[in-house]
Amino acid sequence: MTAQSAGPVINPDRVLIFDTTLRDGEQSPGASLNVEEKLTIARQLARLQVDIIEAGFPFSSPGDFDAVQRIAAEVGTPNGPTICGLARARKEDIKKAAEALEEAAKWRIHTFIATSDIHMKYKLKKERPEVVAIAEEMVAYAKSFTNDVEFSPEDAGRSDPEFLYEVLERAIAAGATTVNIPDTVGYTTPDEFGALIRGIKQNVPNIDQAVISVHGHNDLGLAVANFLAAVQNGARQLECTLNGIGERAGNASLEELVMALHVRRSFYNPFFGHAPESEAPLVGVNLKEIYRTSRMVSQLTGMIVQPNKAIVGANAFSHQSGIHQDGMLKNKLTYEIIDAQTIGRTENQIVLGKLSGRNAFATRLKELGFELTETELNKAFVRFKDVADKKKEVSDRDLEAIVNDEIRQAPKLYHLEHVQVSCGNQSIPTATVTVQMPDGVECTNAAIGAGPVDAVYQAISQIVGIENELVEFSVQAVTEGIDAIGEVTIRIRHADTVFSGHAADNDIVMAAALAYVSALNRLAAALQTEGKRNPQTEVVAIG
Ligand code: KIV
Ligand code: ZN
Repeated sequence: MTAQSAGPVINPDRVLIFDTTLRDGEQSPGASLNVEEKLTIARQLARLQVDIIEAGFPFSSPGDFDAVQRIAAEVGTPNGPTICGLARARKEDIKKAAEALEEAAKWRIHTFIATSDIHMKYKLKKERPEVVAIAEEMVAYAKSFTNDVEFSPEDAGRSDPEFLYEVLERAIAAGATTVNIPDTVGYTTPDEFGALIRGIKQNVPNIDQAVISVHGHNDLGLAVANFLAAVQNGARQLECTLNGIGERAGNASLEELVMALHVRRSFYNPFFGHAPESEAPLVGVNLKEIYRTSRMVSQLTGMIVQPNKAIVGANAFSHQSGIHQDGMLKNKLTYEIIDAQTIGRTENQIVLGKLSGRNAFATRLKELGFELTETELNKAFVRFKDVADKKKEVSDRDLEAIVNDEIRQAPKLYHLEHVQVSCGNQSIPTATVTVQMPDGVECTNAAIGAGPVDAVYQAISQIVGIENELVEFSVQAVTEGIDAIGEVTIRIRHADTVFSGHAADNDIVMAAALAYVSALNRLAAALQTEGKRNPQTEVVAIG
């Protein structure tokens, strides 16, 4: 393998957006994605124009290796984003990452080792000098594959700053071109995090040879505020995820960071040496793709966006109170600091109907950024016709729901063939379902339940026979109106692992049944394959 990738511009006059939705985001319980889903999201991240995509942790499983390799080959074009793979500070991890990434035009290895006393003592069981030596050696090893190497001292937020300065200096000397400062447990406050970045700038002698990056979790709800304080003190790469998904309370949210830097540009400009009124963008992201990307990530990961979520939540731009509505009618700026269209939240555009043909359907999907194979397109068109029969006007949002639902279907071990329910205030809710089993045999069963959805679950569960506990069930309407498509997301737990299922249909009982079968399919597929490693919590010898 030859060294390639020039590496980042060390002193960018804007912030680099490093998206880790496909790596840290995917570490959220129940958010796991298959290869096709990851590719779909990666293509959309490229349209969003993030600078770097952390596509996964190639050593974790053959599936993750495959996903990173395909993203590198397909999305890592010369004008596209840099593709990055995570590796613990171990030769095996780093080599695997390089193998997965080498097809990309620009690629980066991100290697890490913990530097806080608590992590070194209990997780690594290593002393400080050993950790510094490993960091140095592994950065140099990564550098033998690519010029673009990122190093993270895990749990930097709780590490001794003096020790951190030493580790960072040695990592940069060994070839790291980005040093990433993680607040792994979301413990710091904005003032503290800003001061930590300032301290690094002042005390690491060779810091001008690397981009300072930040990574942080939202355990105290401070991740975005911490990052903005870091930007004021010299951080120029932000590691974030769509909708803020990620381990525990999640990561800093991409849409919040990007919009804060965009809307409050005049406040942040001076920290970049720009005049306050400068119009030069502080991020390279295509703002118009934010909303679509958020919806895609939510639909494919099954991680629902709370209605009051900043920027992308359903209520973020709706005004309930009479006073607000009156003000809005007189002048939108009275209560609105962002025009919804800036992030691509257009009025619910009605584009297609019952009479629209396959060409119009395919063209609109292309315009929406979906690249489907012929088979996927045919399947999605059948679904579209079905929806258009029941719903007069099919909007872009409906189309997104249909297509994401189609992509989300794999793997199909169990197939729902037939659902029939009877319910009402005078009858016991009863469901009859037919499921095609992995061996092709069709099984039919009837069950009663507390309501029609429960009856369907009981009937399916009795056929499939895989023990699980329902931990979340949610229904959302894709658009307004009585004929709206309903999206159901469910999460089930089996032996401490959560699996999610998502489906969309005009009939919500049907959507619920499909969502349950989809979650069961994920569970059943996971039982057949080797589990995926968590890069941070798996106990393994480092070095
Ligand atoms: O939270 C964290 O510290 C991480 C590292 C692997 C960067 O995700
Ligand atoms: Zn993290």
